[in-house]
Amino acid sequence: MKKLGIGFVGAGWVVNTFHMKAWRGVRHADITAVCDLVEERAKSTSVLCRELDLGDPRVYTDVSEMAVDPEVDAIWITVPNFARIPVVKAITEEVTQGKADLVGLVCEKPLGRNVREAQEMFGMVEKAGLLHGYLENQVFMPSIVKGREILWRRAARSTGRPYLARCSEEHGGPHEAWFWDAKRQGGGALGDMMCHSIESARFLLADPEEGREAMIPKTVSAEIASLKWGAIPKYIEKLRMMTNEQVDYSKNPAEDFGRASISYETRDGLLALSELTTSWNFVPGERLNFELLGPEYYMQIDSLSPEMKIFLSREVKGSTGEDMVEKQAAEQGFMPVLADETNTYGYVDEHRHMVDSFLKKEPPRETWADGLSVVKLLMTCYMSAEMKKTLKFPPNGLADFVPKVAQGNWKASDFTETA
Ligand SMILES: NC(=O)c1ccc[n+]([C@@H]2O[C@H](COP(=O)([O-])OP(=O)(O)OC[C@H]3O[C@@H](n4cnc5c(N)ncnc54)[C@H](O)[C@@H]3O)[C@@H](O)[C@H]2O)c1
Repeated sequence: MKKLGIGFVGAGWVVNTFHMKAWRGVRHADITAVCDLVEERAKSTSVLCRELDLGDPRVYTDVSEMAVDPEVDAIWITVPNFARIPVVKAITEEVTQGKADLVGLVCEKPLGRNVREAQEMFGMVEKAGLLHGYLENQVFMPSIVKGREILWRRAARSTGRPYLARCSEEHGGPHEAWFWDAKRQGGGALGDMMCHSIESARFLLADPEEGREAMIPKTVSAEIASLKWGAIPKYIEKLRMMTNEQVDYSKNPAEDFGRASISYETRDGLLALSELTTSWNFVPGERLNFELLGPEYYMQIDSLSPEMKIFLSREVKGSTGEDMVEKQAAEQGFMPVLADETNTYGYVDEHRHMVDSFLKKEPPRETWADGLSVVKLLMTCYMSAEMKKTLKFPPNGLADFVPKVAQGNWKASDFTETA
């Protein structure tokens, strides 16, 4: 089988922590190019690729130049949320002018900071006639895939479909200033992470034979709050220092907690409900939680209950790190350790699936259409939180809606005000 040549645009944290390690489990691809505005980052990722035997990538600082490299067949877009549109515009222009010969584009979550942006992304890739894949790693987690397969095959077919999915992602806060800055990121913790939980709940609740679009969203209810980083003076100051004074939550806070309920009507007229929680307040480390409930069955996944725990006494002194779990906050005591985080979080199967789909010239099972559906639900969550009421989906004004938090108009005290 021919190998797919992959170019990466954006060589930051997620690429170096997870993506590159995942490629060791992908057979039919080589990393042929890496592009980053900061040349040193592209160079060090290129070195990492050689060390991991993933290819011998050329280094670029301009994505238009990388797009026309004949060794690049597909581009993985891993730039920050605010940089997506210009990057996709540049790539698709090279394609439509016939200078770049690409099969497809793959983009990290979320597809856009609001519906207008996600729609524009989707429009550009479709107009260029490219295949497109949406990087939602959680629906490729081996535990979710296996749990869903067992429950739908063994229990749902004979006793009835699942009716409730509870999904959450929590950690202590992101690593780069732009994530905390609601204007650049698109929101706070809800904008950053609830896209994962929305899609994993849709994945678990939808009948595998019908697909997610067969579940029609009916209502959305959500709340956002600032419990720590915009509420407690000590942490407002800590965040200001952590971000080299780029982010000041005493002036422009973003939520560090969000919860939502989204109801769906299934094709057989039943109600399916998702309960979603996300936060940047959870100190023990990254935790992914999933529950699926049906009339005669139940599934539970908790990423912080792995098969391994390590105990280190107070006599063991060491530097801070993330060698046991993502967003690790301590190095002493009894600690959960994920032996193969990249695989546990679904990155290996996600990339393998994208590559295989592109080689077969087929749309992957997560496309930018799914990314757009997720952004629509995400923005309805913000709308519901602002209006303090349960909304029918789709609400009026969704196409042009920009959350107050992303406009710099949200206050932490909004939470306790009544509608
Ligand atoms: N699936 C997940 O769980 C997960 C986890 C983390 C991040 N992400 C997503 O991945 C994306 C990147 O996150 P990150 O943590 O790696 O961010 P990061 O800030 O660590 O890295 C982004 C990189 O992109 C580069 N960049 C910015 N604009 C560019 C441009 N126009 N051209 C080329 N390079 C450019 C920056 O220099 C930086 O090196 C985000 O959209 C984020 O939401 C997903």
